[in-house]
Amino acid sequence: MTDGPHRRRDSAAAGDFETGPLVGDRFFRHIVLGMRNGVLVVTRDRRLAMMNEVAYRILDITPGDADIGRPYADVLASQPDMIRILTAAFDLAHLPNRAELRLKPSGKVIGYTLSQIMDDEGGSEGAAVFFKDLTLVEQMEERERLRDRLASLGEMAATIAHEVKNPLAGIEVMAGLLRRRVADIPDAQALLNDIIGEAKTANAIVLEVLEFVRPIRLQVEQTSMAQVLHDAVTMAERKVDRGGVEVTMNIEPQLPLIKADPHQLGQLFSNLLINSLEALDGRGLIGLTAAVGRAYEEPAAGSDERAPGATLVVEVADDGPGVSPEAVERIFNPFFSTKPQGSGLGLAIVRKIVDAHDGHIDVETAPGQGTRFRVTLPVNSGEEWLR
Ligand SMILES: Nc1ncnc2c1ncn2[C@@H]1O[C@H](COP(=O)(O)OP(=O)(O)OP(=O)(O)O)[C@@H](O)[C@H]1O
Ligand SMILES: [Mg+2]
Repeated sequence: MTDGPHRRRDSAAAGDFETGPLVGDRFFRHIVLGMRNGVLVVTRDRRLAMMNEVAYRILDITPGDADIGRPYADVLASQPDMIRILTAAFDLAHLPNRAELRLKPSGKVIGYTLSQIMDDEGGSEGAAVFFKDLTLVEQMEERERLRDRLASLGEMAATIAHEVKNPLAGIEVMAGLLRRRVADIPDAQALLNDIIGEAKTANAIVLEVLEFVRPIRLQVEQTSMAQVLHDAVTMAERKVDRGGVEVTMNIEPQLPLIKADPHQLGQLFSNLLINSLEALDGRGLIGLTAAVGRAYEEPAAGSDERAPGATLVVEVADDGPGVSPEAVERIFNPFFSTKPQGSGLGLAIVRKIVDAHDGHIDVETAPGQGTRFRVTLPVNSGEEWLR
């Protein structure tokens, strides 16, 4: 390469670029290849000029020795969307500075910037795309959006619940008074009992809604999962008759204590157990297991930003009717219920409690195949390995 007219020449580290004598071609290469973004550079004749490690990783492509210089359509064959973006770069007058793309089939979301590479005469020599895996950011934003949605839904529900609570209490009290007045009319007594019963049910729903919309304030303490699960079983059995259902518990000995709110966790697991008991309707098996988190695998998002820490994995499984694929998408939504008397808040509360503990919940189910909820909670304390 020839020196530019304004070029200063230093004897030691003469560079090939016009930007100064200290940095050379190799230095620039290292800057580009070492970037923590994905970097992909192609030439005007549609060949791959440069692709860094991050780019290979985000795009799930195994680096090949002869990749550089090959037509990029070959190297990127598994990522047709990326090929499309690069090809368009040569035709577009205005290149997107901040755009997003969902890669198929991995479902990863990338944010990218496209730029053209110009030669000295201002002609287009190639194109470069810089990109970052936004999957985790996206997931966080989604959670945030859900939280916002729940918050406004919650405010509305709370207002309605408050308004309804007083008249309901009124109905209950007045029906009670009336019942005393008609002590000698059995028919009227029966009707009034029904009215009181219904008002009580409505009140219970209102309380549940209020409970749901209240933000969770965790009372964190060193918590024994074994104790939580025993309490949860007792609580669930108080709410739903167990009938002939067999509940087995398999709790790994020497589970670490976790930093958590034992009452909230009790509610979480009793909600899951209540659902299983209701699904089984007096017949079947429920298996409760708790173990240190070796069963937990990080989602294969290819990101190294969240190293798996110590976790506790608790599973609640039943051999009941299972959930259809259409319904399973919605079971965590507030007010989704397939039960005539269900408020549909059980699993929404479960999710809220899991979120508050920075945990993770997933479900495996299919019609006729039973249902298995898996809750993964961070341990947060490495010291105490006691029960
Ligand atoms: N173990 C399970 N087996 C089969 N279906 C389930 C199970 N757990 C949940 N579901 C389905 O998910 C729906 C939502 O559950 P959720 O606990 O949120 O509400 P609900 O049980 O209907 O009402 P609530 O818990 O407020 O009384 C249920 O109506 C049911 O269809
Ligand atoms: Mg429920």
